Amino acid sequence: MAGVGMQHISRFHGGRGRLVWLGKQLQRAGRESGWIDIGGIEYLTDGSVILLKYLTSKINFGKSMASDQQTAQSSANGKAAHSGEAEGGAAASESWHGARMDFKAAMSYGDYLSLGQILSAQHPRSPSHDEMLFIVQHQTSELWIKLMLHELHAVRKQLHSGDLPPAFKMLARVARIMDQLVHAWDVLATMTPPEYTAIRPWLGNSSGFQSHQYRELEFLLGNKNAALLKVHEKTPEVHAALDTVLRTPSIYDEAILLMARQGLPIDAARLDADWCLPTTHNESVKAAWLTVYQNTGQYWDLYELAEKLVDMETAFRFWRFRHVQTVERIIGFKTGTGGTAGVSYLKKMLDVLLFPELYALRTAL
Ligand code: HEM
Repeated sequence: MAGVGMQHISRFHGGRGRLVWLGKQLQRAGRESGWIDIGGIEYLTDGSVILLKYLTSKINFGKSMASDQQTAQSSANGKAAHSGEAEGGAAASESWHGARMDFKAAMSYGDYLSLGQILSAQHPRSPSHDEMLFIVQHQTSELWIKLMLHELHAVRKQLHSGDLPPAFKMLARVARIMDQLVHAWDVLATMTPPEYTAIRPWLGNSSGFQSHQYRELEFLLGNKNAALLKVHEKTPEVHAALDTVLRTPSIYDEAILLMARQGLPIDAARLDADWCLPTTHNESVKAAWLTVYQNTGQYWDLYELAEKLVDMETAFRFWRFRHVQTVERIIGFKTGTGGTAGVSYLKKMLDVLLFPELYALRTAL
């Protein structure tokens, strides 16, 4: 016990605040030497300072305390026998900075996230080292698209019910997700043409063109194309889900319906459109947005909604642009594995405007 002073305590895991608290408990306990029980945990004290939190506690001492523990432990003699605890060093190695270490009977990080399934879903087909990058890049993109869909389906509901503030938050989130997917292209761009050529024969006809989540995203935002459903006939549940989104008003349609409910004049034909068709420019919609932008005080919510939509579309356009640019860098003007002309097809997609009137009004302002 001799020689144990505050320098030992200062290394006690839990910080100064916890030491002060323990000091107070110790005063209340009468500052006796030996073992005291505070809050169901036993501490060893020499009467002035707490030396050791007993090893039955899950809180860790860290490696720097090991020698102190041994000193204190040997001083504690019969105490270890009393608790039935094994060597102090062995118990300390079972814990790390207070972290729970035993998950035999409890849900762990991997259980919660189903990491077993996710991390065993990468199956390179070629002998190429670089195929893993190709797979992980696509899989992570699909996960982020999944989250965007989750947010955007909720946005559509909120617009339908006219509850805009939560929709703003979700739209902002989607724009940020898109932003980081834009940066993700930098990782894929480390794949050189020979590296891609080595895996291309193994891809068969699979292509992002067949991504049902991406297609759902496009439909949800108003870029409808019924012909593309055919690709998904192989998976009836996916086909049915896409078909439903195709036939339901898009997020942009809901925004226009909302403007009409707020008294802005919109053509009846636009309000009763065939929802399966892609968004096309409509003069009455442009005029309505113009009114919103010229009277922001009166239509602040619609104005904010419009800007959030533009933010999102801007990020989406960057994603499309980085896709075509990366594809050109890697495969040049070869045809795509999905069967299109490749870069020239993707370049045409750059012309798609999801919210055409929101861009057109800018010239008129
Ligand atoms: C080396 C990497 C890549 C190459 C060479 C490539 C190439 C292509 C090509 C040529 C197309 C046109 C369809 C076709 O004929 O295949 C396409 C479409 C597509 N790709 Fe990629 N791509 C790559 C990476 C990615 C990644 C990482 C994603 C992320 C999910 C992705 C998603 C898509 C999507 C969604 C389409 C359909 C676009 C549309 O129809 O508007 N691609 N890709």
